[in-house]
Amino acid sequence: MGWKGPSRVPTPPCRGQGHLPPAQLSSSPASNTSRERALCLTPNLLRLSPPRSSPLPAQVSSAALHNRSAAALRERRDGQTDGRDGQVAGRCAPSNSTGCDGMGCSCPGGRAAPGMLLVLLLQRCLQLLLLPIHALACLGLWDSFYKRLFPHVMAKVAPVYNHKVYKQKQELFSSLRRFAGPLGQLRLLEIGTGTGTNFQFYPAGCRLTCTDPNPNFRMFILKNLLQNQHLQLERLVVASGEDLHQVADGSMDVVVCTLVLCSVSSIRRVLEEVLRVLRQGGAFYFLEHVAADHCSWTYFWQQVCDPFWKYFGDGCCLSRETQEELEKTNFSELNLRHFHVPPCWIPTSPHIIGYAVK
Ligand SMILES: C[S@@+](CC[C@H](N)C(=O)[O-])C[C@H]1O[C@@H](n2cnc3c(N)ncnc32)[C@H](O)[C@@H]1O
Repeated sequence: MGWKGPSRVPTPPCRGQGHLPPAQLSSSPASNTSRERALCLTPNLLRLSPPRSSPLPAQVSSAALHNRSAAALRERRDGQTDGRDGQVAGRCAPSNSTGCDGMGCSCPGGRAAPGMLLVLLLQRCLQLLLLPIHALACLGLWDSFYKRLFPHVMAKVAPVYNHKVYKQKQELFSSLRRFAGPLGQLRLLEIGTGTGTNFQFYPAGCRLTCTDPNPNFRMFILKNLLQNQHLQLERLVVASGEDLHQVADGSMDVVVCTLVLCSVSSIRRVLEEVLRVLRQGGAFYFLEHVAADHCSWTYFWQQVCDPFWKYFGDGCCLSRETQEELEKTNFSELNLRHFHVPPCWIPTSPHIIGYAVK
């Protein structure tokens, strides 16, 4: 990847055919001109379980993946590792392979009938418990109340979360400078800025455009900017990621999204907007919690909690297959890694992190 993995993860091969170091990748002319898709995963992630019908070896290089169809990529992705211990973590991998749960894989969500019945039963219990909130939501009252409360919740939660993923964020954002324009200036757009918890990771002189559909975050963003005077705020726009018409085509070097794609109404439309506002060769940086391995207890709990999580996460969805959407989008390069944020039994533990180049 374009950023070094944790010490256990050696620098992975990238850009399809090449096994070049990341710095070379972003500066290589091919990376800016080729529309060819290269799926670049760390060796941990590259350890794919061979599909039942295919004689592919367990280790598939990015070169091997280079020309595969999206369907084939998905099939292989279903058997990829969780990036935590390098073990295979397929959708229904062997019982010791999902790792995180420490419960073994009994396919709680995967054994169709009893699993689904249990999910439905637990959902009914939660529905009863949360009936007052559900009623307020049906009356349209919960959303307006929570939109005002959510920034205060995030102001408390974001520093705790940042502490947990500090190393990963630092490592990810350390490569931002590579995408600066010819004069060394970096025009960065953040979608769903929230309280501005990522500001501390942006390089000095960065020209920042902040967007968020919730205007109640404004005060928190401005406060955070006061503490991050190395940044230069260009604009603060109230806008959803699906409609960034205030931002001109090709006007950004980098777009950042952290913990946002779980809440948007259409990931595809957001990614289309990302591609539109990025200049050729610009990069989209992401860090998102995603659907767990379908064979894990984490996925089981994601399914149980999903209908209600949105009430407390401002529309947040627990079981989004965000990687699938990223793979479908017309980026020339996708660098992605899976990891778990502790404690690993919580439904928001499985994460993807990385960047994609236009
Ligand atoms: C969990 S918070 C994350 C905030 C911040 N990015 C962070 O990492 O701390 C989710 C953010 O996404 C924003 N959001 C929700 N729906 C959105 C949409 N459709 N487009 C853009 N942002 C959205 C929310 O207002 C909120 O700021």
